[in-house]
Amino acid sequence: RRTAILISGRGSNMAALLSAAADPGFPAEIVLVLSNKPAAGGLARAHDAGIPTAVVESRPFGRDRAGFERAMEAAMAEHGVELIALAGFMRVLTEDFVNRWSGRMVNIHPSLLPSFPGVDTHARALAAGVRLHGCTVHLVTPGVDEGPIIAQAAVPVLPDDTEDTLGARVLEQEHILYPAALALVAAGRVRVEEGRAVIEAAAA
Ligand code: GRF
Repeated sequence: RRTAILISGRGSNMAALLSAAADPGFPAEIVLVLSNKPAAGGLARAHDAGIPTAVVESRPFGRDRAGFERAMEAAMAEHGVELIALAGFMRVLTEDFVNRWSGRMVNIHPSLLPSFPGVDTHARALAAGVRLHGCTVHLVTPGVDEGPIIAQAAVPVLPDDTEDTLGARVLEQEHILYPAALALVAAGRVRVEEGRAVIEAAAA
């Protein structure tokens, strides 16, 4: 499936997806990396990997979020995009956009959802004193960080952890989890039943 990765920043998850997708047997083909920030570090990395990039800034659209999203969709249409992987994309999308891409858009979130939706997840995990933390890949639905869970990875929270050490431990797992979860969606193995994701067995 022809896939766009949407980023706003450094793009380490994007890089993990690009390297997985470099294998011709990987079911998602990355045809575009799109950023809403011209300075996103991930753009240079994508360019170096020979992947087409595009920048669509939200600022010129002001409060017209639908206009911004239509501009992104125009860029994606040029590349025949069928699937979207959000990877550190820091804009909340409208319900209309999310519904148009229903079942075809995934996100990675740095916590074990439904714990700690939103931002500053590692600091909040430390403040809560949880012993396990981690990351989640989910289908995107209109409620932020609420969509059906496809896959999760857990890491221990250690006594001396800081936001940075804990975040780095989670990020290492994100880079393993995201390619695996995107492969499931791109291979058509994720179905939603009663609001939950069901993973079909691989064809023999
Ligand atoms: C990751 O922690 C991801 O889970 C979150 O934003 C961060 C993006 O990092 N959604 P990177 O740009 O992929 O390095």
